[in-house]
Amino acid sequence: MSQTGSHHAVSEETLPSELEQAHQGEVAENPFADPGLPPHEPRRQDIDEKAARASERTVALLFTLSMIATIAFIASFVIFPVDKIIYIWPLGHISVLNFSLGMSLGIALFAIGAGAVHWARTLMSDEELIAERHPIEADPETKAQVLADFAQGAKESQFGRRKLIRNTLFGALSLVPLTGVVLLRDLGPLPQQKLRHTLWSAGKLLINQNTNKPLRPEDVTVGSLTFAVPDGLAEDQADFAEQIAKAALMIIRIAPENIKDKRERDWAYQGIVAFSKICTHVGCPISLYEQQTHHVLCPCHQSTFDLSDGARVIFGPAGHALPQLRISVNSDGYLEALGDFSEPVGPAFWERG
Ligand code: FES
Repeated sequence: MSQTGSHHAVSEETLPSELEQAHQGEVAENPFADPGLPPHEPRRQDIDEKAARASERTVALLFTLSMIATIAFIASFVIFPVDKIIYIWPLGHISVLNFSLGMSLGIALFAIGAGAVHWARTLMSDEELIAERHPIEADPETKAQVLADFAQGAKESQFGRRKLIRNTLFGALSLVPLTGVVLLRDLGPLPQQKLRHTLWSAGKLLINQNTNKPLRPEDVTVGSLTFAVPDGLAEDQADFAEQIAKAALMIIRIAPENIKDKRERDWAYQGIVAFSKICTHVGCPISLYEQQTHHVLCPCHQSTFDLSDGARVIFGPAGHALPQLRISVNSDGYLEALGDFSEPVGPAFWERG
């Protein structure tokens, strides 16, 4: 470690103005030279013993204040009952105990910190030092020694000669991580096909989510957005949240000639189309519908889907069109599903695995 104020050794008596002149002379000689640290300016406490003593007293006072506050903290804890309330402006009505504990502890900690800072700033040495950094790389002798030690260790362990030990060690080390894989089973049963299927199946009636009644084609008017759930899904069943999160459906009616996608037209009933309500980005429920354009907007990150064109994504981060449910009308005149969605609903992560 070396101490540098400039490149020259500087005696304590050297006046600051002389130091500055010497420093400026160096800079004039070579403007690209390392300027080093600026010369040390002595503080008042460095040259005036009276000022140093005043600082010492201030620091001692702060530490004493901390001691008093700590004693006050303990006393408050003993003296004040838990339920005593007082009014203190502007805090209002507060517990005496909490207030006194908080104040005394705050002062105790603050006084220690303030005392330490004042001590460091006024009395401790403030001369800047440069700690020379040693090269990180080992010197050639150390490297050679490490290699020699390694070779010696390998020889003494007979790692190369005892092939049986070496090979079984490799086997043990490569198998032991499998224990972690087996423990993953504790995370719960595998999802199996649960993420790929919903409650929709052939013949399931479309139930209006608001009225809880089966939907008829005449209930779905042009320009309206209707939400539906599968028949038989009851709010009090244990897996209601899980099932509705997958099966939620939105239904709109579009003039058949305005449906651009052929499959969508085939899977619709007289222009009534049913799509998953779960956004394919990260699964928010979609709820904003623009009648004129037949666009639906996900409120989470603004993915926009065109329901007149296979619900393809026309804006936003979603990576995949909304799955469509194929629907028809049963003999009683109610809308019914003709099967499940053709692909997993929700974030595109799950599809086509
Ligand atoms: S969840 Fe719909 S855009 Fe992100």
